[in-house]
Amino acid sequence: MRKKVIAGNWKMNMLPNEAIEFITELTPKVKDTKNEVILCVPYTDLFYSLLAVQETNIHIGAQNVFYKESGAYTGEVSPKMLKCINTEYVIIGHSERRQYFAETDETVNLKLKASLNEGLKPIVCVGETLEQREANETEKVITSQVEKALANLTDEEVKNTIIAYEPIWAIGTGKTATSEDANNSIKQIRNKIKELYGEAVSEEVIILYGGSVKPENAKELFSMSDIDGGLVGGASLKVDSFEKIVNFDKE
Ligand code: PGA
Repeated sequence: MRKKVIAGNWKMNMLPNEAIEFITELTPKVKDTKNEVILCVPYTDLFYSLLAVQETNIHIGAQNVFYKESGAYTGEVSPKMLKCINTEYVIIGHSERRQYFAETDETVNLKLKASLNEGLKPIVCVGETLEQREANETEKVITSQVEKALANLTDEEVKNTIIAYEPIWAIGTGKTATSEDANNSIKQIRNKIKELYGEAVSEEVIILYGGSVKPENAKELFSMSDIDGGLVGGASLKVDSFEKIVNFDKE
């Protein structure tokens, strides 16, 4: 049985004091869940958030990373830098980074390898645009993104990689993929992993859905056969809505 994972993606929101307040308020509300609770926070919140989650079941991630270990790369942060303060997770290849910051399948692959080498747990995002969906290219686009992201990884590394399927047209728009559509795309991703790395690996990989996940749709989405949880943007900015999503499986 794959564990359910609920990861918040705060994007470029929340100051350190807000992060600490959020975590303090969230802690008692999620302390009994068996789901993995992750908050992916801006770099400037990492250190404060990591201190605030000590002795809780909340895990902290970054939202991006560079693939070099050190050097003349002004403004970048390396996997080692994230790891040395005990950051556990890192989002790689979010569609906003692909769209605004020239992230490509190749840089996603380099970042993924560098992060795994450092012992970080990556959350790799893939997803189609509305145009691609309307042209019936969803499967082709997302399986190709997955294949390129995972290129040259060992079976063990693939098992340690979380994938987030986020249809771009559903991000921040209030439009959610139907649970059947989301499950279908995630099955296609799992089949691709099976083709490349075998069934045992494909059955272990955690694959999340992202795109306008909210308390009202979390239960239906996360109850589907292949959806192992969610990457949550907007609804992760309020304790009330995020807590309800984490606790989607409580009556
Ligand atoms: P959203 O964002 O939940 O606000 O649609 C999801 C994401 O971008 O990860």
